[in-house]
Amino acid sequence: MAKEIKTIGVLTSGGDAPGMNAAIRAVVRKSIDNGLKVKGIKKGYQGLLNEEIIDMEARSVSDIIQRGGTILGTARCMDFMTEEGQQRGYEICKKHGIDGLVVIGGDGSYRGAQALSRHGINTIGIPGTIDLDIACTDYTIGFDTAVNTAMQAIDKVRDTSSSHERCSIIEVMGRNAGYIALWCGVATGGDDILLPEKYDYNEQQIINNIIANRKKGKTHHLIINAEGIGHSTSMARRVEAATGIETRATILGYMQRGGSPTCKDRYYASIMGSYAADILFEGKTNRVVGYKHGEFTDFDIEEALQMQKDIPPYQYEISKALAI
Ligand code: ADP
Ligand code: F6P
Repeated sequence: MAKEIKTIGVLTSGGDAPGMNAAIRAVVRKSIDNGLKVKGIKKGYQGLLNEEIIDMEARSVSDIIQRGGTILGTARCMDFMTEEGQQRGYEICKKHGIDGLVVIGGDGSYRGAQALSRHGINTIGIPGTIDLDIACTDYTIGFDTAVNTAMQAIDKVRDTSSSHERCSIIEVMGRNAGYIALWCGVATGGDDILLPEKYDYNEQQIINNIIANRKKGKTHHLIINAEGIGHSTSMARRVEAATGIETRATILGYMQRGGSPTCKDRYYASIMGSYAADILFEGKTNRVVGYKHGEFTDFDIEEALQMQKDIPPYQYEISKALAI
């Protein structure tokens, strides 16, 4: 028989992402709707180990759905990677009466959730990362806002690039994944889109493209470079030396992680937060919420972590075909 849950905790962990607040709001309100008590754990697993735990009411999450970041704060916590840290985390949960936990974060955060589940705390993960690099889901909270923010910034760089007939290398986030670069590259008409999963480090090919495009009369050349490849500034120096065309690097950085979430991020985060609250209420544990083939669903955490994800080959081909 499923364990009866009376009090749940919610925390955000790893890098923050726009829409996390909408997910927290949904977890809190849906759990209250289900008749449970809710506690907010501040600063991820670090806050759990420091017992930074607060009571949450429906009103605690008022006026946050439109705000970027996470009202609970987030952190990376090395202590929680150890068996001793996880045991302490379990004991602190018990002390505060927390028998279920929703963890909003990425793959690393699910490992922590898995450890607590092994100790007997029912845990559910929600995918929260701008990188879209979680294999069990086609959507992660924050990606939509991040690509829209980056797209708008790239459009602006494109204007000045065209005016000065320059080449621009614009570096977007994504850790080792190229989804932000792929989407922004296609959406801004990037001439070269460099993805860590695909790039062969053939810089001469890029140089040839720039020269060929200039001959065709293109006034600018836009290279969207993923963080996982990096080195945009030195690449710009080499490209300029080889082509004789002024080349500038712009690294968009943390602006991509902030700002008011898009409607999509608010909506999906609200559904995922509610879904997590409901399956926790039903007594499920060691699960992660996903969005696959147009449906919200859930997977065993281990199964989810074993799944592989790659840049969809057709979408990658299109990104190159449209750049001619
Ligand atoms: P993300 O959740 O975005 O992938 P990280 O990989 O930085 O971000 O993980 C966030 C936090 O999750 C870590 O700082 C740590 O506290 C916890 N965590 C990561 N890996 C493990 C692990 N193997 N076991 C327990 N906790 C982990
Ligand atoms: O995972 C989100 C992300 O913004 C990545 O795109 C980036 O590589 C990383 O976090 C940066 O992390 P930090 O906040 O530790 O600098």
